[in-house]
Amino acid sequence: MDRLTRRKFLGTASLAAAGTAVGPWVLRAGAQSGPIKIGVVLPYSGVYAVLGESITQAMELVFARENWTVAGRKIEMIKEDDEMQPPIGIRKTEKLIDSDKVDILTGPVHSGILMGMRDKVHNSKTILIVSNAGADAISRERCSKWIFRASFSNWQPNQPMGEWVAKHVSKDVFITAPNYQAGKDQLGAFKETFVPAGGKLVGEDYPKLGETDYAPYLTKIRQSGAKAVYAFFSGSDAVNFVKQFDQFGLKQSIKLTGAGFLTEPDVLPAQGRSALGVITGHFYTPLLDNPTNQRFVKEFQAKFGGKMPDGFACQGYDTAEVIVRALKAVNGNTQDKLKLVEVIEKSEFDSPRGRFRFDPKSHNVIQPFIYVREVREVAGGLNNVPIDKVANVADPGTGCTLPA
Ligand code: BEZ
Repeated sequence: MDRLTRRKFLGTASLAAAGTAVGPWVLRAGAQSGPIKIGVVLPYSGVYAVLGESITQAMELVFARENWTVAGRKIEMIKEDDEMQPPIGIRKTEKLIDSDKVDILTGPVHSGILMGMRDKVHNSKTILIVSNAGADAISRERCSKWIFRASFSNWQPNQPMGEWVAKHVSKDVFITAPNYQAGKDQLGAFKETFVPAGGKLVGEDYPKLGETDYAPYLTKIRQSGAKAVYAFFSGSDAVNFVKQFDQFGLKQSIKLTGAGFLTEPDVLPAQGRSALGVITGHFYTPLLDNPTNQRFVKEFQAKFGGKMPDGFACQGYDTAEVIVRALKAVNGNTQDKLKLVEVIEKSEFDSPRGRFRFDPKSHNVIQPFIYVREVREVAGGLNNVPIDKVANVADPGTGCTLPA
């Protein structure tokens, strides 16, 4: 048994006295009456700052709907900027877990930061709801009972696109992505189905994350004889790549395709007409015709000055929805972590993307659909119009064995 210090003894004794006076339920309620702390590790600066902003806004939309209160306890978001640097993201994670003692952790955007956070989260038995970072390994050999992902694995939006591009666009394709784990994962998933469908990779290149001048890469693409490009870029990288691809004159002769992040509504206004006709794969578009999405788009636009929600906002919405539903199911008791894991595993609800549920094998979300989308001018603005879809896309989860 723990040795009782004098301070601990006095604290326990006065609580016990209060308990005798008014009943034991006061003790139970008292222990859980403080705010529920949600730790948020996201980029609020750097290449992916716009992603962090969309995720945060949608989480705040859901918490505001609940009056920032669940089961009588206030919800408090403690936000930390990971500055897109793995060592900073890890340090902020340690601060949120060890000093702030958060009840639930969310984030990050960058796959490398997620991989760096993984052991701290797992060893401290902290529940993490991943709101973006797609590192495949987190649904596979590095999965954890304490980690759920409400966004996507990098594999999910890309694997169906390999075969689709080979069949419907071209068999001579140049592939490119930033040189870090998400870039490697996403293009790897594309190749998995592109090559067996008869596709030929005419070139492959990995500029640094945060590149601002793509001219040397675009020159190589022009010289490669590619009929199409498949690219993963996001945030300001996506703005620069898509605009420079057009300015370089490649748009007329080479079809641009990619992972959906390339043309999400967070970057479409800055890309302008350079994005017209780009074909991408993603689990969401704000044009989805379901009542939850229609309400989400309306409320998000009303709250954030007409801004169109993107896939990142959908992920923030789903992350907050998972949290609120789980907290309600345990009546605000965040002490019993195993019970919380149990109820999160069973989360199922109507999301703007369709019916949301986790794969019990990997704790990764099963995508109701991966949509093939084309950027078109609709209702006076640019948007991703679905032109095809693949149902129930679950990560293979290879190498993940979650303890019962
Ligand atoms: C990632 O690092 O996992 C990632 C970043 C932006 C968009 C998609 C994935």
